[in-house]
Amino acid sequence: MAIRKIVKIGEDFLRKKSKPVQNFDEDLWQLLDDMKETMIASDGMGLAAPQIGVLRRIAVVEVNNAYFELINPQIIKSKGEDVEEEGCLSVGSFKGRVKRPYEITVSAFDRFGYPFTLTGEKWLARCICHEIDHLDGILFVDKSMDKDKYLKQGGKI
Ligand code: NI
Repeated sequence: MAIRKIVKIGEDFLRKKSKPVQNFDEDLWQLLDDMKETMIASDGMGLAAPQIGVLRRIAVVEVNNAYFELINPQIIKSKGEDVEEEGCLSVGSFKGRVKRPYEITVSAFDRFGYPFTLTGEKWLARCICHEIDHLDGILFVDKSMDKDKYLKQGGKI
């Protein structure tokens, strides 16, 4: 396992759309292990592959000590609304309010290529939505109710 360098906001790379994973092989497992290690070392709740320079639809999340690996994730159901302050390992110290669904159900594949669905609420739902946004080149500051404040501070987009 290895800790990877995290791509920071302002680099074009973070704005690209990631491609689906097709091979559930040892390279993928290595990447997932590195993502987990990098997330934990950075004290994050989630990490998406583009954040370590890989344009593939892969995310890892850890909320309330429950760890999940999501490959080719898709939100299939969402319910309610919730507003909390979010941050991102690619953005730095800025935190801003983002409106997200309160509950979501996501379909995804595990590291061996088996499909599963996962329903999460509050922070787990938020975290999964945030990571899936990364796979489409979207960052939380784009959606934040505090975007003006961020830009006024000289924040990059
Ligand atoms: Ni993020």
